[in-house]
Amino acid sequence: MFKHFTTATWLSAIVATSLFSPAAAAADATAGKKAFRLCAACHALDGKNRVGPHLDGVVDRPVASVEGFRYSKAMVAFGEDGKVWDEQHLAEYLAAPRTTVKGTTMAFAGVKKPEDIANLIEFLKDPAAAD
Ligand code: HEC
Repeated sequence: MFKHFTTATWLSAIVATSLFSPAAAAADATAGKKAFRLCAACHALDGKNRVGPHLDGVVDRPVASVEGFRYSKAMVAFGEDGKVWDEQHLAEYLAAPRTTVKGTTMAFAGVKKPEDIANLIEFLKDPAAAD
């Protein structure tokens, strides 16, 4: 009896952990749309450059490639080897812009929570699809 009870307790603990662990949650474009408020002061998604370059199609877009935007020398150098903003480079840059691209003119401290970054990237893949 006692043994049965402990097994069931363990099982429910494991189920609860996997259901509520943020790491296990799928990236959420709707939450990413909300998180994009952090970016919207400087970045638009309508093809127009503002303080920062527009972010249309930024996922897998070559670094420093928007026409008419004056990138920092640091950003141009970062993209010189043909780098694209794949999910890994985006995640690194958004977590710590000034460490990832030393000398970047993006005056932004970074996004603290990994799940916010994952949600932002999910949103940026297809902004029109998010509610
Ligand atoms: C205070 C203004 C500001 C904020 C806030 C900001 N950015 Fe930026 N961002 C910039 C500027 C300026 C650049 C160009 C940096 C350079 O040339 O070094 C840039 C560059 C970028 C790039 C590189 C684009 C390219 O064409 O290579 C990405 C990606 C990016 N920002 C994403 C974001 C995201 C996502 C957020 C929100 C989490 C954000 N930024 C918040 C100003 C900002």
